[in-house]
Amino acid sequence: MRLDRFLSESTDLSRSDARKVLKSGEITVNGEVITKGAYILNEDDVVMWDEEPLALVGLRYLMLNKPAGYECSLKNSLYPSVMTLLDIEKRERLHTVGRLDVDTTGLILITDDGHWTHRIISPKQECDKVYVATLAEPLPDHAERLFQEGVLLNGDDKPTLPAVLERIDERTARLTIQEGRYHQVKRMFASLGNLVLTLHRERIGPVALDADLALGESRYLTPAEVQALVSDEFYP
Ligand code: URA
Repeated sequence: MRLDRFLSESTDLSRSDARKVLKSGEITVNGEVITKGAYILNEDDVVMWDEEPLALVGLRYLMLNKPAGYECSLKNSLYPSVMTLLDIEKRERLHTVGRLDVDTTGLILITDDGHWTHRIISPKQECDKVYVATLAEPLPDHAERLFQEGVLLNGDDKPTLPAVLERIDERTARLTIQEGRYHQVKRMFASLGNLVLTLHRERIGPVALDADLALGESRYLTPAEVQALVSDEFYP
């Protein structure tokens, strides 16, 4: 990798500021001052800025317990972005794996690894997403069967894939879906003439929301969780 790129990727410097810092002679590689941005680094070269070692920020994988009132966007728009809840370097490189509505709470994955995201959200992966919904009206007797068979959502031309509904009480249910259509859970309950009052995501594939995370808190995924989310072993 070129030295100017390494500098901008391992610090907050833009590429042009990195070149200015290089010109000023503040950067050493293996103890020798290097001023050229085009200098090509080897893997075990030690780069220092004013005697502080620099390292590349590796790929990051996090889970966040999303509170209501935050958008799954990169920048604040109508509501603040979920990214503002993270106290993390190079936040601008991160994205959410799929989206939750502004009023939905619970598990959202955040990363800067686009390939990983793609594998998780690809419809081919058939990754379970598990939600708990509280509803305005009691569930009808046949709701499980209808969701298992698939329902036609307003404006769509194909019914939903089989989904598993589990009653928790008269107005609370756990729903497992494998698709990610726009407002899918709310629209599925709307197809029964019902209204979702609160929606919370508990799990994505093999990874459940950590019960120790309060709303707004996040943590890094363990290597096993990162792997499990893209491993064929966990999917049908
Ligand atoms: N389905 C919805 O309707 N909303 C969400 O936030 C997620 C799934």
